[in-house]
Amino acid sequence: MTTRREFLSGMAAAGLAAQPVFRERAIRSLFRANVIAGDRAPHALADDESYWAEIQRAFDSDRTMINLNNGGCSPTPSHVLEAMIRDLRFSNELPVEHMWRVLEPRIESVRRDLAREFGCDPEEMAITRNASEANEIMIFGLDLKRGDEVVITNQNYGRMITSWEQRARREGIVVKQISFKVPPPSDDYLVDRFREAITSRTKVIEVTHITNLTGQIMPVRRIVDIARPLGIQVFIDGAHAFAHFPFKRDDLGADYYGTSLHKWLLAPVGTGFLYVRKEKQKNLWPLMAAAATQDTDIRKYEEIGTHPAANHNAISAALAFHRGIGVERKAARLRYLRDRWAKRLLAESSRIAVLTPLDDRQAGAIALFNVEGIDSVKLGAWLLGQHRIVNTPIIHPEFRGIRITPNVYTTLDEIDLFADKVLDAVKKGIPA
Ligand SMILES: Cc1ncc(COP(=O)(O)O)c(C=O)c1O
Repeated sequence: MTTRREFLSGMAAAGLAAQPVFRERAIRSLFRANVIAGDRAPHALADDESYWAEIQRAFDSDRTMINLNNGGCSPTPSHVLEAMIRDLRFSNELPVEHMWRVLEPRIESVRRDLAREFGCDPEEMAITRNASEANEIMIFGLDLKRGDEVVITNQNYGRMITSWEQRARREGIVVKQISFKVPPPSDDYLVDRFREAITSRTKVIEVTHITNLTGQIMPVRRIVDIARPLGIQVFIDGAHAFAHFPFKRDDLGADYYGTSLHKWLLAPVGTGFLYVRKEKQKNLWPLMAAAATQDTDIRKYEEIGTHPAANHNAISAALAFHRGIGVERKAARLRYLRDRWAKRLLAESSRIAVLTPLDDRQAGAIALFNVEGIDSVKLGAWLLGQHRIVNTPIIHPEFRGIRITPNVYTTLDEIDLFADKVLDAVKKGIPA
């Protein structure tokens, strides 16, 4: 069994105990969780409520609602929020001094910590306010000529599609949207959909690492491998992937990667990052202008004017909490929660279809289901209005359903109550 001293020294080695904001309460909770975990493998811990109850205690959640829309954004653990509020108060005492001169330089340790987690050099890691900002830096940052082609899918995030369409209207580039079946028959099929859309004019592919609609994990590495020899840039929208399941930059072969940190890292709202490989930085313009001397400086993407330092500095506390759990344990728990409701619904009703492959290589916490004969929007409204279960109805031209996304603070009771209510709706119907 791990002693408190061993646990703390392990955390210190990981840079956790050194975090000034990694407060006693969070340490105690993670310590108790760690003792409970012992040396069990992540999947063996996935259904151990005594372990996950300690993790749940780190959040001040409103349990009067069941939040199964953690795909939008997630709450941050209480001690991370406290750290951010402390820094906001301190900033406000004397912003020009406390915010700019004391707190802002700490962004460099956030950069270093995130780079280590993602597996890149700190000089390749820019801190942004969300995935939209990171992705739009990529989308608007590359010089393209009239007639140049960009390949995306019609399941990319709406704002990213809108950004490409604006470039098409303004500059005459050609945006080719491919579609694919949900669930897709295989990775080969997905890779072929991209391959078939490539022509000699293709300059960019934008791919979502995990889609927000069904939670499908895309075969990003294979898409990079077909694009790179052809000189095609691959922009990866990882809004939902980072800190959700284990991977590193080199597993993807990524040159560009954007993510939110207020989703799966559980950092405060208004945090994200943009990774750009060193040799790609010169040719990717920032969204807000930077000096020519910054051409190959990753900080050129952070030239956004006056902004709070508190939000981005709190990323380090969220990262410490994430490492305290460990991404393998987290992914195993999230998949366990997904399977608990999805496999039960499939087993108990032939009218229910799950449009996300229940295969860990292809999905994480997010999954989409549909009930034959019941409109998803009405079912979603009934779950929310009658049972206070927050869910996300998804309406796409080619499919529809309800997206369910638990997180590490979700309890088994919450998952089971949600599944009970869906099965009630299937048996008894819902009011028209
Ligand atoms: C796939 C995808 N990309 C980008 C975004 C934008 O993220 P944000 O709102 O944090 O900028 C989202 C948000 O849900 C998303 O799901």
